[in-house]
Amino acid sequence: MPRKFNFGAGPATMPEPVLKEVQEELLDWNGLGLSVMEISHRSAEFIEIAQQAETDFRDLLSVPDDYAVLFTHGGATMQNAMVPLNLASPEGIVDYVNSGHWAKRSIKEAERYTNVHIAATSEEEDFKYFPAQDSWKLSEESSYVHYTPNETIGGLCLKSIDNSKIPVIADYSSGILSEPIDVSKFSLIYGGAQKNIGPSGLGFVIVKKDLLGKAQPITPNLLNYTLIHEGESMSNTPPTFAWYVAGKVFKWLKSLGGVEAISIINNRKAKKLYSYIDSSNFYSNTIKAENRSIMNVPFLLGNDELNDKFLDESKEAGLLALKGHRSVGGMRASIYNGLPEEGVDALIEFMDIFVKKYN
Ligand SMILES: Cc1ncc(COP(=O)(O)O)c(C=O)c1O
Repeated sequence: MPRKFNFGAGPATMPEPVLKEVQEELLDWNGLGLSVMEISHRSAEFIEIAQQAETDFRDLLSVPDDYAVLFTHGGATMQNAMVPLNLASPEGIVDYVNSGHWAKRSIKEAERYTNVHIAATSEEEDFKYFPAQDSWKLSEESSYVHYTPNETIGGLCLKSIDNSKIPVIADYSSGILSEPIDVSKFSLIYGGAQKNIGPSGLGFVIVKKDLLGKAQPITPNLLNYTLIHEGESMSNTPPTFAWYVAGKVFKWLKSLGGVEAISIINNRKAKKLYSYIDSSNFYSNTIKAENRSIMNVPFLLGNDELNDKFLDESKEAGLLALKGHRSVGGMRASIYNGLPEEGVDALIEFMDIFVKKYN
């Protein structure tokens, strides 16, 4: 059966060449006579996979040498606790930008470990725009400011960031590797792997080394950035299979020309879809133009009663997982790196047929 186009927000579509390679190697990795998921994480073979993945990830993002790269458990949500546990104190204060669902989740968890000040929010306008950096009201003694550059559910993003006088922390779960970023503008970048990196179960952290060594005493060892760094992300058994697949995704991305090259494709994919939506008087997307995400494109149908029909018929047409998050309604097309441009073309074609049929 041919593969269908998967617009799911995560776990998301994987590049097909990576899946094929994994399939070929699944029973016998590298002539060892066993699967890669059966070998010890302490073996020389796995350590080579792990180190190569880190090297490629660093290359793709041009991560400076004074940053550590960690591979972690617990996806992005674990980082919501790890960030304040490692970088803030119960008496101190931190700043958070409230841009939607995922920012709110980060805020709620951080409040358990420190004092959170909301530096900016767009909640009063239903998160239709991303608070501009120059509107952030940072606290005097803040340990850091946290924001979510790409809100996966709302479909809004902040394209870039200027230098900040306090450390900037970013939940880059759904934006990482989609466009070039200047890592040196951040003190810490984290995310879950299951959008542009690989299978779920793996997380990544890129942290400036001078922020290490500040964990609160209650921080569990397994969640302590310094110990994870010292243990080369192997304080205990890591998610080895996900790490191995991530390594293959990094190689795949490099073979396409890296983040600069995929960013051209991603911007083209997103532009096509937004242009079609904007040209239609049936479909709509209400996010402020400059804050529209190129990874997650939510859109509403002119008539909500047609939502189920849209989902049934798109599924029949081989276009999967287009249902929007319940908090936003309508549809959402997640068009991550692994979703081929033909998938976007097929979606637009389907949307056009649908509107002519029912509107
Ligand atoms: C921006 C963002 N942050 C956090 C999360 C939570 O990720 P995880 O399920 O890996 O904890 C998600 C999941 O979609 C996300 O999109």
